[in-house]
Amino acid sequence: MLTVSRLAKSYGRLQAVQDVTLQVAPGQIVGLIGPNGSGKSTLLNCIAGTISPDAGRINFDGHDITGAPSDVVFRRGIARSHQDPALFQRMSVLDNTLLPARKQAGERARRAPFHRLWRAQETTLAGRAVGILHRLRLRDHYATRASDLSGGQMKLLELGRSLAGEPKLMLLDEPTAGVAPNLAYEIFEQIAALRNEGLTFLIVEHRLEILFDFVDHLFVMHLGSVLAQGSPAEIVANPQVKEVYFGA
Ligand SMILES: Nc1ncnc2c1ncn2[C@@H]1O[C@H](COP(=O)(O)OP(=O)(O)O)[C@@H](O)[C@H]1O
Ligand SMILES: [Mg+2]
Repeated sequence: MLTVSRLAKSYGRLQAVQDVTLQVAPGQIVGLIGPNGSGKSTLLNCIAGTISPDAGRINFDGHDITGAPSDVVFRRGIARSHQDPALFQRMSVLDNTLLPARKQAGERARRAPFHRLWRAQETTLAGRAVGILHRLRLRDHYATRASDLSGGQMKLLELGRSLAGEPKLMLLDEPTAGVAPNLAYEIFEQIAALRNEGLTFLIVEHRLEILFDFVDHLFVMHLGSVLAQGSPAEIVANPQVKEVYFGA
C-alpha cells in the first residue's frame, strides 16, 4: 500500500533521514521506533507531505506522491496525527471532528447560501462525527472546548479528527505521548479495532511494551537510517537493536 524507497532529507549538514526504504501492506499495523532524533518524525512528515524529501520516492495506493503537498496526500487517503495534538483549541470537540470531512458542499461558495442543498450531507457528516466520538469515549464532551480536555482526551480527539477524513492509511506520531497507561492501552485497542475494519497504520511510539502487543511489523531507525526490521520477537532478539536502542 505504501512504499518508501531510498528516501533522504537533510537539514543543512544534518542527514535527518538517509536512504530509508520501507513498506506497509494493507491492513497492517506497522511500528516505527528508534531513539530520539533518529528521524522518525521527519520520515512521517515526508510521507504526509508537510516537508519535501531531497531524494527517493514515495508510492501510495499506486500513485507517486513524492513531494506532493499535504492536502493532495490527504485526498489520496493518508491522514496523520501529531506528537502534540494539532487541535483548534477554542472550538468544541464536535466542531474539531467535523472540520476535516471531505468535499463539504456547504463550503462551496455558490451552494453555501442554499442550505437545503447541503443540509442532508451536513447531517450525515455530523452523524458520523458523533459515531467517531462515541467510540473514542468522548461522547460526554461534544460541547467541551478542546483546550479543556485532558492530555489523553486530546490525543483521542486528534485520532477522531484524522478518522473523520475517512483515510486508508493513518500515520500516528506517538499517539500515547503524555497519556496515562490505562488510556494508552485503550488507544491502541481502538487502533486495533479500526485496523480490523480495514484501516492501515504506521505508528511512531515510544511505549514499546504496548506497541509490541499490537504491531504486525516493526522498523527500527537509528541516525536517520533503518537499522532493522521484523516482527516484535525478531526486533527484541536483534543484538544491534539491543545495542543502540535498549542500550544493552
Ligand atoms: N526543522 C528542522 N530543522 C533542523 N533540524 C531538524 C528539523 N527537524 C528535525 N531536525 C533534526 O533532524 C533529526 C531527526 O529529527 P526527528 O525526525 O524529529 O527525529 P525523531 O522523531 O526520531 O525524534 C534530529 O537531529 C533533529 O534535531
Ligand atoms: Mg519525533
